[in-house]
Amino acid sequence: MKILSIETSCDETAISIIECAGDITAPTFKVLGNALYSQAKTHAEYGGVFPALAKREHAKNILPLLKMTLDIAEKNGLGFKEIANIEVSTVTKLLEREGDLATQVVEFLKTQKIPDIDAIAVTSGPGLEPALWVGISFAKALGSAWNIKVVPVNHMEGHIVSVLLGDNSSEVSFPAIALLISGGHTEIVEIDGWSSYKVIGKTRDDAVGEAFDKTARMLGLPYPGGPHVSKLAAEFRASCPSSDDPSAHPFNLPRPMISSPDLDFSFSGIKTAVLYTVKNITNDGVNPLSDSQKKGLAAEFEDAVTEVLVAKTRKAIDMTGAQTLIIGGGVVANIYIRAQFEKLIKEKYPHVSLRVPSVDLSTDNSVMIGMAGYLQLISGKDTGSIDIVANGNMSL
Ligand code: KG4
Ligand code: ZN
Repeated sequence: MKILSIETSCDETAISIIECAGDITAPTFKVLGNALYSQAKTHAEYGGVFPALAKREHAKNILPLLKMTLDIAEKNGLGFKEIANIEVSTVTKLLEREGDLATQVVEFLKTQKIPDIDAIAVTSGPGLEPALWVGISFAKALGSAWNIKVVPVNHMEGHIVSVLLGDNSSEVSFPAIALLISGGHTEIVEIDGWSSYKVIGKTRDDAVGEAFDKTARMLGLPYPGGPHVSKLAAEFRASCPSSDDPSAHPFNLPRPMISSPDLDFSFSGIKTAVLYTVKNITNDGVNPLSDSQKKGLAAEFEDAVTEVLVAKTRKAIDMTGAQTLIIGGGVVANIYIRAQFEKLIKEKYPHVSLRVPSVDLSTDNSVMIGMAGYLQLISGKDTGSIDIVANGNMSL
């Protein structure tokens, strides 16, 4: 089965075509075409994602990205049928909230042969609703013109199944747990089988990625800040071989809720502690932070966050008897966090298999949305017949 998938929940516009095979116990995937445009630089000056701007950028880029994906997939063997005989008024109506995009899509469909795909998967939440709507309206328009089913996908399920691409990746032993760490979410999910998810822990305030981004801002680093904080922390550790020694840097940030009996998180306290530390050492902004202070603070921040994530994950493994630990979401691109989890599994849970997506599938992408769409279709959980709407707060 071939699936065209669309992701527009935040600041990445992405379209893929993937070939899917296998049953629910051993699904396999191959990417035929994939194109992604990140708006991160556009949003950088606002220090975060600005929804109206995200929507406009998605609408501007989505059609060129589809063309690019179709071209790449054709080179990889994707077949095409005749040009669709479209009903202009239907396509226009489905795209009415997306401005000029409606006319562009109609013009495109008039000359485009129908690709040989079986379904369209689109992120319907959680995320920024105006941004989600661009992908949903676009998917519905293509689905109606090409007479292909459209399947709504939960973005967080995409992050979970992102580990299924690659060598020997198809089989996962259940029960599994997923630690999802992104810019908008921090959750622990219990998984009894594909499409059977239960959130057993989550953040009570900021998401981990958000804490990275806000800390980066306080250190004068650009958005999105995660990679910048991580780079400074790595420089600190490289320059200071005994970084396990607390006296290596003078900073001491809290580890909120690390010993609470539940699986919930709280990261806003760490962020506030960074703020007060910065105020204190800069004498309320009078003296700039030195490079070594920035590096030491970045390392302490990364340590604090990682210790909490590791402690709660240990608790979740113990509580659920998980045989697989999946870590997904943009923050798993962080090499220090990855390394600490590898160490944890090797030293304390050698019977648990650790599954982490490749770095390009860690941050937002559409390949993971196509994979989640396939699992829904073959598990009979497909909800493609209902009218799809954007749901910014959708939960698993
Ligand atoms: O999953 P994602 O691409 O988008 C959301 O769904 O939120 O995650 C984006 C988040 C941002 O907060 C970004 O700063 C963080 O992932 N991030 C990182 C790293 N790379 C991306 N955080 C820490 N270290 C990194 N290397
Ligand atoms: Zn995400």
